[in-house]
Amino acid sequence: MSKTITNKSKGLLKNITIVITGASSGIGKSLSLALAPLKPNLVIVARRENKLQQTAYHLKKQKIKHISIVGDVRNREDRESMIKKTLNTFGRIDVLVNNAGLGKVNLFLEQPEQEIDELIETNVLSLIKLTHSVLPIMKEQEEGHIINLSSTLALLPAYPFAVYCATKSAVKTFSDCIREEVKEYGIKVSTVLPGPYNTEFNQVANIGKSDFRGYNVEKLVKKIVKLIMKPKDNLIQPWHFVPVAWLAKISERFKNKVTFSIAESILKAKKETSLELENKVEKKEEIKFLTH
Ligand SMILES: NC(=O)c1ccc[n+]([C@@H]2O[C@H](COP(=O)([O-])OP(=O)(O)OC[C@H]3O[C@@H](n4cnc5c(N)ncnc54)[C@H](OP(=O)(O)O)[C@@H]3O)[C@@H](O)[C@H]2O)c1
Repeated sequence: MSKTITNKSKGLLKNITIVITGASSGIGKSLSLALAPLKPNLVIVARRENKLQQTAYHLKKQKIKHISIVGDVRNREDRESMIKKTLNTFGRIDVLVNNAGLGKVNLFLEQPEQEIDELIETNVLSLIKLTHSVLPIMKEQEEGHIINLSSTLALLPAYPFAVYCATKSAVKTFSDCIREEVKEYGIKVSTVLPGPYNTEFNQVANIGKSDFRGYNVEKLVKKIVKLIMKPKDNLIQPWHFVPVAWLAKISERFKNKVTFSIAESILKAKKETSLELENKVEKKEEIKFLTH
């Protein structure tokens, strides 16, 4: 029996190596901490060293074997070094959680090309390329699990998030396709489709001033831990998005209604965030003027 299955059946992830990209905040950080009691080997990756060290500090306190790698998933050398360091330290990669990603709210006509590049390169290209490099290792091991972070916006696309929604649909489609191809090698592929969760996501997406802060991320990561223990194809969270997504699939009218209301609330949040920023800048300039 494989090492993974034996350990999982004991409710533990001992000696199972899990790589989590985007572990310096939000879902990636919470997932790393939620996995700690199950004692896996963890490899945590992100660009901001100080933030990543905070995640590492909690793992160290719990005596979890881990390595933290400061790197950008868009960079080929960083991706190669992630894999090399993981194999040198732990000798295998059992689970890859492709979590690093970001959103940017903007009307498409107003979206700078640089933002489009950043979204596609981070959310899609890096995820596909990292998966492409890790799959042969899993094939050799005759087991493995790829977990890709998509979004409920892949099923309910809202127009001020056009490029983001497109990237998350691509992730869902990509996962569905490779799942079929790699299952004969004992490799599982899961897609996680979260609704709005309270992380740094809104801040990065320029909708920090949203009325709704998002759902509690701890509940989501508990479900992702379960998914690692018992893989399934898709995980939509919170659960009430399951019937919404299903209804949207069978009724275009319902889908348009839901996506329009999501779009309106996103635009409202963006407007309020921009106004707050403008006020802050004005106040700073006023203070500068008065103190000179
Ligand atoms: N929160 C939500 O409502 C929500 C909903 C649906 C889907 N998701 C998806 O869930 C994933 C995690 O998002 P989150 O909500 O946890 O947001 P978050 O708090 O902003 O976390 C994003 C993580 O990705 C990392 N990251 C971004 N670009 C990177 C790059 N080029 N290289 C390496 N790491 C990078 C960030 O670290 P550094 O900046 O330090 O690199 C950070 O650790 C994303 O794929 C997001 O699209 C989130």
